[in-house]
Amino acid sequence: MSLVEVRDIFQSYGQRPILERVNLSVAEGEFVSIVGASGCGKSTFLRLLLDQERPTRGEITVDGEPLKGEPDRTRGIVFQRYSVFPHLTVRDNIVAAEALSRPLGRLFGGVKRAACARAEAALERIGLAHVAQQYPSALSGGMQQRLAIAQALAAKPRILLLDEPFGALDPGTREQMHRFLLDLRAETKMTVFMVTHDLPEAFKLGDRVVVFDKTRWDPHDPAAYGATITYDFDARNGGIPYQLNEDQDGLPDPAPHPVAEAG
Ligand SMILES: Nc1ncnc2c1ncn2[C@@H]1O[C@H](COP(=O)(O)OP(=O)(O)OP(=O)(O)O)[C@@H](O)[C@H]1O
Ligand SMILES: [Mg+2]
Repeated sequence: MSLVEVRDIFQSYGQRPILERVNLSVAEGEFVSIVGASGCGKSTFLRLLLDQERPTRGEITVDGEPLKGEPDRTRGIVFQRYSVFPHLTVRDNIVAAEALSRPLGRLFGGVKRAACARAEAALERIGLAHVAQQYPSALSGGMQQRLAIAQALAAKPRILLLDEPFGALDPGTREQMHRFLLDLRAETKMTVFMVTHDLPEAFKLGDRVVVFDKTRWDPHDPAAYGATITYDFDARNGGIPYQLNEDQDGLPDPAPHPVAEAG
């Protein structure tokens, strides 16, 4: 049973097609890395999954329910650019994110104290405990991005959308964030879609790596066609492309394993 079903999605802006015939089926708990050339529509695809935008054609369902046309708390997102609240301290940024995930949008008394304790634990975990009382403007870009991730997680989303979340981080911090994300996944059943331009990162973190690209190209009008999913790699099985028409019996593919064969 899949959690997210993307069926024959097309997205155009004005006359310009961006995505065409996108189909994807993702099980609960899967980590899907998304790669593709700049401008091919990866962030657009995340916005469709977030339900921030409606597709021109096609349908996305979560748990069998079509998206309603407005983002809700089951999906959290970390954008390409930092998206923290500048007027709140680092700790209150996380508390506020958790509060926003509640029906009243506010926390009181013991509930608030518990949320503060959770926020402090989250900051400890991502190495920001020492700046808990500072404002985001005092943080480096990498620290702000770590805060944005902790913020998205505070609402305990069922689906986490990450748009090049580690692009601005130095290699050491990036490695630390990878471990953080892998630990977190081991603990929760969170389903993750992550856009990245870094292929090793895509294969390291993802269960699958899907590639967006154009299958049709008009040299006189490069914007004439949109992109679609051209490859869907099983990153847990040596990078073998998924069968386009998967067997329905759930049994392993009888075809020889190309990597094993080569070895
Ligand atoms: N709201 C919008 N209105 C019109 N055009 C848009 C809109 N959003 C995106 N586009 C265009 O759609 C195309 C795809 O944009 P998108 O941001 O999804 O690409 P991307 O794959 O995320 O690129 P990058 O890797 O550079 O982040 C771009 O040409 C962009 O200019
Ligand atoms: Mg983008």
